[in-house]
Amino acid sequence: MVKICCIGAGYVGGPTMAVMALKCPEIEVVVVDISEPRINAWNSDRLPIYEPGLEDVVKQCRGKNLFFSTDVEKHVFESDIVFVSVNTPTKTQGLGAGKAADLTYWESAARMIADVSKSSKIVVEKSTVPVRTAEAIEKILTHNSKGIEFQILSNPEFLAEGTAIKDLYNPDRVLIGGRDTAAGQKAIKALRDVYAHWVPVEQIICTNLWSAELSKLAANAFLAQRISSVNAMSALCEATGADVTQVAHAVGTDTRIGPKFLNASVGFGGSCFQKDILNLIYICECNGLPEAANYWKQVVKVNDYQKIRFANRVVSSMFNTVSGKKIAILGFAFKKDTGDTRETPAIDVCNRLVADKAKLSIYDPQVLEEQIRRDLSMARFDWDHPVPLQQIKAEGISEQVNVVSDAYEATKDAHGLCVLTEWDEFKSLDFKKIFDNMQKPAFVFDGRNVVDAVKLREIGFIVYSIGKPL
Ligand code: NAD
Ligand code: UGA
Repeated sequence: MVKICCIGAGYVGGPTMAVMALKCPEIEVVVVDISEPRINAWNSDRLPIYEPGLEDVVKQCRGKNLFFSTDVEKHVFESDIVFVSVNTPTKTQGLGAGKAADLTYWESAARMIADVSKSSKIVVEKSTVPVRTAEAIEKILTHNSKGIEFQILSNPEFLAEGTAIKDLYNPDRVLIGGRDTAAGQKAIKALRDVYAHWVPVEQIICTNLWSAELSKLAANAFLAQRISSVNAMSALCEATGADVTQVAHAVGTDTRIGPKFLNASVGFGGSCFQKDILNLIYICECNGLPEAANYWKQVVKVNDYQKIRFANRVVSSMFNTVSGKKIAILGFAFKKDTGDTRETPAIDVCNRLVADKAKLSIYDPQVLEEQIRRDLSMARFDWDHPVPLQQIKAEGISEQVNVVSDAYEATKDAHGLCVLTEWDEFKSLDFKKIFDNMQKPAFVFDGRNVVDAVKLREIGFIVYSIGKPL
């Protein structure tokens, strides 16, 4: 029986290993983390992350062949395959601040693996890392290896939050990169055999290490680029009377382009798109490729533009001032079906409105008040000029921000409402009731194009949708 250990029990490590345990009942899978509260939550009835279908998978295998533990060293020592799925955020200080990936957590995990190992192991990069990270990891492992053989594989993860379990059950592809040596190929085969329990072998792509590492950054950059493309188009639609949904449909029916990922929005969020593109930009710059770097920079710039454009529209439409006005914020997570708020566009929009002295009443079905307050009082990092942006004072936040437990409470007596996450429940709200309880004129700013603008206008709302005629 093979034993697998995964370092990092986060959004990737937890769900990925749960599905692996479910699909490979003869393999013991242990997910380890330095965070005791996180591991306790994985071992409890209230998992640390909200992800549809996850609880069911965990319940089926936890205690059988799936375990969560803080005893990192013991389980690494006992394992044949060690996945490393620790966080790789953007550096906030020093060389490359604001762009380069911070590999502190990765390096410390690699040093620990080298220290505790007494038998050969396959070490799998699951985290998203800069291209050629495996070379650095190899150096750390082999310089401290005491004669033990380590094979490094790159096996980036492509799941999206909110659909993680579905994506893991049925991935478009699994990517494994390894060394072109006999030992490297043997390691690739060992990992391929694990995935082959449930993924058709023709969907398991094997490449060299650098291609696998770079493909992950490239895939996220291409996906984010599609969103910035359609969002840039949405600004032009608003200026010309075209409808971005119609344009996206007409463009996306070209089979060479395809229909997915063309929803105009208030901007993309999430822990990875911006971080990974900034990382790509940094790598291009370090390799003397400023033109390539500038191309990708524009994707992030358009995203920032879209968030600012949205907030400015709220202020300018409400007679150029939101001072003292109550504005309901429906949705704070970066997308529906997750409680994750990392890099959510809601942070930028709310901070702008707070700076304009609005009173916000925020409702999200999955995000806790404590999280919203923490997000809104954190210093923002300006990637273009690596210094923290001026911090909005925490006192301002507590006076101006109210977090409530339903959409009707949020919108009561409000002058305007902003939809910032596309939660399904927002589509079926009783907008007549909401309208009756709002100040008039009652404004709706739909940052996700989820409400029925025609119906809302019939009720009496003034409705602004992204990329649509008024
Ligand atoms: P996360 O922050 O949710 O989880 C990372 C975990 O690693 C944390 O719980 C942290 O305590 C733990 N950790 C850090 N250093 C450790 C150490 N030395 N030993 C043990 N545990 C340690 O991060 P995440 O969202 O799961 O992302 C992990 C990686 O996967 C990142 O590189 C990210 O870019 C990539 N990724 C994320 C997603 C996603 O949807 N979130 C999708 C694909 C890839
Ligand atoms: C994204 C990728 O889709 C995953 O393949 C990848 O593994 C992951 O990043 C990662 O590396 O972390 P995720 O960020 O979880 O997954 O969610 P997405 O569905 O990609 O959405 C990202 C953001 O783009 C959200 O804010 C979403 O609302 C926005 N979006 C998405 C749009 O504005 N329009 C779209 O058409 C699609």
